[in-house]
Amino acid sequence: MKTELRKGINWVGYVDWVVRDFHGYQTPRGSTYNAYLVQDEKTAVIDSVKAPYAEEYIARIRALTKLEAINYIVCNHAEPDHSGSIVALQKLCPDAEIVCNEKCRKALQLHYDTAGWSFRIVASGDSISLGTRTLTFVETPMVHWPESMFTYVPEEKLLFSMDAFGQHYASAHRFDDEEPLDVIMHEAKTYYANIVMLYSKPIARVLDKARGLDIEMIAPSHGVIWRKNLSVITSAYVDWVNFKPAPKVVILYDTMWQSTERMAKAIVEGAQETEAHVRLINVRSTHMTETVTEVLDAATLAIGSPTLNQTLMPQVAAVLTYLKGLKPGKKAGFAFGSYGWAKSATKEIETYMDAMKIERLREPLDAQFVPNDDALAACRQAGRELAEAAIERASG
Ligand code: FEO
Repeated sequence: MKTELRKGINWVGYVDWVVRDFHGYQTPRGSTYNAYLVQDEKTAVIDSVKAPYAEEYIARIRALTKLEAINYIVCNHAEPDHSGSIVALQKLCPDAEIVCNEKCRKALQLHYDTAGWSFRIVASGDSISLGTRTLTFVETPMVHWPESMFTYVPEEKLLFSMDAFGQHYASAHRFDDEEPLDVIMHEAKTYYANIVMLYSKPIARVLDKARGLDIEMIAPSHGVIWRKNLSVITSAYVDWVNFKPAPKVVILYDTMWQSTERMAKAIVEGAQETEAHVRLINVRSTHMTETVTEVLDAATLAIGSPTLNQTLMPQVAAVLTYLKGLKPGKKAGFAFGSYGWAKSATKEIETYMDAMKIERLREPLDAQFVPNDDALAACRQAGRELAEAAIERASG
């Protein structure tokens, strides 16, 4: 496996082919935890891997250098998938300085026993010379945690971007031009939607900062390293941070006795009379990871649940709770669902919609027990209007 980014700069991370659940995020293609070794007159390690994989991480470093030669261990992000193996590495090279910002130092102290660690605290604009190369630090709060930071090597036009531009994607090769771009971009979109959508505003600020840097290569903490398709991934990020709407309708629902499902399918029938892209998602048979990814660029949504025990079907509530936390922006839509004697579900859906600032395009569609022909005709009409609204929003 080729691991060299630039002469003397190598990937020393871990390819996790096996992981399928990343704190609830389904990762069908696994992941990688990327760390890097920069060898110059001085030697720096950038980030680490999950603690269980410390042995392989340290073996990769040892294959390139003696551990006593390490001067700096940079921690760009304290989340355990990137900081976990610093504990083992620091024990083996106790004279190395742990380079991080003040918030990161506090976070590391709350995760690990850092007694004996020698910290070098840096802030935005600070730099450390390694000899012919320089590590320059750019704080990127909330991308993904408050202490998050980029490390930039100006002489190599190389940005270590931590979680930003990452993908949960295990692969035999380390670079974007060595793997199928459509698959990488799908995983980058899934990662954005599920991990950092909530932080779209801070990411937009970071993109502005990054515009001031001369960058030829972006090395994130997960997935492939971007050296060929930088404009593809950075343009996609611009679209995602701005919630650029696609002419796309997503209909989310769960069902008990197929009444709400019949309504959902009638909404689809109406929507597909237009040119809009339409996705029907049963939230009980589709993982939340995929649902949220589909919502990211959808212009409009219809959200359906029957009333069960005077409230929502549980998986609809789960998806809406997850979505509410991720704060999707610039959506419009409506609620629909069947009920028996208490009409509660659509009201609750609207409460979630209001919390997410999803504009209501119409009153909810409710059907008692089983939708009759009139109710299904109303669903078809609403679906058509939902799709027309998506097309208009995407063109506006
Ligand atoms: Fe990949 Fe926020 O850690």
